[in-house]
Amino acid sequence: MKKILLLFIIALSMTQIFAQNSSKSSKSEAKEDRNFRIPLIGEQAPSFTAETTNGTLNFPSDFGKKWKILFSHPQDFTPVCTTEILELAHLQGELDKLDIKIAVISTDPVETHNQWKKSMESLDLNNKGTVKIKFPLIGDDDLKVAKLYGMIHPESNTTRSVRGVFIIDPNDVIQVIYFYPANVGRNTDEILRTVAALETSAKQSTAGSKVLCPVNWNPGKDLLVSIPPKAQESKAATEVPEGYYSPAWYLWFKKASQ
Ligand code: BEZ
Repeated sequence: MKKILLLFIIALSMTQIFAQNSSKSSKSEAKEDRNFRIPLIGEQAPSFTAETTNGTLNFPSDFGKKWKILFSHPQDFTPVCTTEILELAHLQGELDKLDIKIAVISTDPVETHNQWKKSMESLDLNNKGTVKIKFPLIGDDDLKVAKLYGMIHPESNTTRSVRGVFIIDPNDVIQVIYFYPANVGRNTDEILRTVAALETSAKQSTAGSKVLCPVNWNPGKDLLVSIPPKAQESKAATEVPEGYYSPAWYLWFKKASQ
């Protein structure tokens, strides 16, 4: 009976979320509530202090000189969000290898996060086994963080965050922003690939030549360079140094493992 009641409440709140998309009254409400903006690529990540399932978090400073991901979702106890959070929990080893600290946020209170977390930790999805959720789930029922990061997209929903991903570098500068709607789950491989690409570019770039990641780049694949080293020294852009190839004067690849 308890389970049926819980299912009914979840179904009702999801119906309300979707109903907001088309309701005229929510749209006029939304227009009044636009005093917040999305912090942009290249900007310092806005700081906040919030309660989480792991205690108080001062973001981003508590995560130190690490790569950081702030990952928002619309609502606890909803199906897509559950699959996303469990997948991230299973990827904890990969996140650690890439030196990434992640914090998850929705406009639910910490108490609801704790109940949902406990329930998720008992689930065995796709026969992957149960998993502990080690990263913090931020309580944001006053929408403070969601507004600070422009995660409320009022035409979609005035009180629930969209699916947002902010990738923030060790100096707390925003490097990547993605937003997805409530009905489509994100691709965690793409999130990890993006951080690997950012880390590779940051490690291999020099003052004179930036290392760039081409389309569909993955670790171990050839990279691009803005200016090849030899061309920089001699100023002769036609000479292709060892370890590079150049299909066009404006296109310089650096072979992997160089
Ligand atoms: C979900 O399944 O995660 C979800 C679906 C609709 C609205 C919010 C969340």
